[in-house]
Amino acid sequence: MRVTVFGTGYVGLVTGTCLAEVGHQVTCVDIDQAKVDGLNRGVVPIFEPGLEDMVLANHGAGRLSFTTDAAQAIAHGEVLFIAVGTPPDEDGSADLQYVLAVARTIGRHLSRPAIVVNKSTVPVGTADKVRAAVAAELSARGSDIAFEVVSNPEFLKEGAAVNDCMRPDRIVLGSRSAPAVETMKRLYAPFNRNHERIVVMDERSAELTKYAANAMLATKISFMNEMANIAERVGADIEMVRHGIGSDPRIGYHFIYPGAGYGGSCFPKDVQALERIARQAGYEAKLLGAVEAVNTAQKDKLFALAERHFGGDLRGRTFAVWGLAFKPNTDDMREASSRRLLELLWNAGATVRAHDPEAMHEATRIFGQRPDLVLCDTPAQALEGADALFVVTEWKAFWSPDFAALKAALRAGVVFDGRNVYDPAQVEAAGLAYYGIGRGRSLQPR
Ligand SMILES: NC(=O)c1ccc[n+]([C@@H]2O[C@H](COP(=O)([O-])OP(=O)(O)OC[C@H]3O[C@@H](n4cnc5c(N)ncnc54)[C@H](O)[C@@H]3O)[C@@H](O)[C@H]2O)c1
Repeated sequence: MRVTVFGTGYVGLVTGTCLAEVGHQVTCVDIDQAKVDGLNRGVVPIFEPGLEDMVLANHGAGRLSFTTDAAQAIAHGEVLFIAVGTPPDEDGSADLQYVLAVARTIGRHLSRPAIVVNKSTVPVGTADKVRAAVAAELSARGSDIAFEVVSNPEFLKEGAAVNDCMRPDRIVLGSRSAPAVETMKRLYAPFNRNHERIVVMDERSAELTKYAANAMLATKISFMNEMANIAERVGADIEMVRHGIGSDPRIGYHFIYPGAGYGGSCFPKDVQALERIARQAGYEAKLLGAVEAVNTAQKDKLFALAERHFGGDLRGRTFAVWGLAFKPNTDDMREASSRRLLELLWNAGATVRAHDPEAMHEATRIFGQRPDLVLCDTPAQALEGADALFVVTEWKAFWSPDFAALKAALRAGVVFDGRNVYDPAQVEAAGLAYYGIGRGRSLQPR
């Protein structure tokens, strides 16, 4: 099938590439000329495991092309995906300007029947707005070309996006048009062979499904962080508690890790946006407000531990930071917990020596050159001259350090483990002080 994808970010590029991989003819369109030029030269702008090889192979095979020419891209596709950003507006609601700009562009150039598929995460009712925006442009030029709008939210995880896209848990299709659903089923048939993954519903339910999924996941994290904060005050170890509750199949082990707070381009903005959606509908979503508040406080946690350890004065101290990306296997630093920690450390007069396996260029782009930030090529270099170590992102490369070497390198001999990746006893056996998240014993380093 002939497919057009608007937006070559994490969602658009991965979706377009996976659709090409199963044999569809895909054109990806973006307004970012440099990004499109790079992709046409084989430069993949984001780090996502497996993506680069797949982009190069499909581009080379002629199934995947990149352009800034929207008219040409619209002429190409029988299915037109919208996968552009929906960043938070000033009041936290989702900013639809990019989605609606694409809808208007489609209306201006559509020359034969097509299906417009909304893959961006959008407030309930956006399918109607997209429909109206396309229709308004069509009628402005006296056209009555038939088109359908389908809500098809995306559930991929950064860091595992290609795998999630090739083997989705479910494919949600929001549409009340039987022919549109049939076309979408044909498009997704190669991803649906093993068992039925397609869930068909109306557009509004599909739109809410995406927010509900992210809000549930964010809630699990904030719940565990709340438990961690209780655990450390009552002398319990949240890691023991985690194992204890995860063994109940109604709870499960997935996604119940306490830590330094959730970040990324989705959870923070989607929880906020859902709160606004509820408020506009006359409902105060108290639980969502609490999820967000717990997370905001949790992002200050590592700094608070350090401040306490060093008697409230971090001026002139140097800290090694391992991990800048908001989670492992991505270079994405949007809303990352590391950013809040760095900001607090800098405000307190400290210097940071940071390393991340993939996010160094992103850190350079965000922070530029500054005297209180040294970006280091290796984890070991980050330790040089540092008083203490923060582990902020649980990259596998950080899981088994040589603790004796850490002890030798760190002037004050302290480890702040923001993801509970270490065994406190092992760290302390090396003569280091250990602080984790919600580990009661860390109140009295031994
Ligand atoms: N990143 C994720 O893990 C993820 C997962 C599921 C859903 N989503 C949702 O998918 C949407 C896209 O997210 P993302 O992370 O891929 O965004 P992104 O910021 O990485 O990419 C968006 C792209 O859209 C392009 N763009 C903007 N306006 C355009 C236009 N008029 N025409 C063509 N291209 C245009 C931008 O230049 C950019 O390259 C958001 O709504 C997000 O909430 C993201």
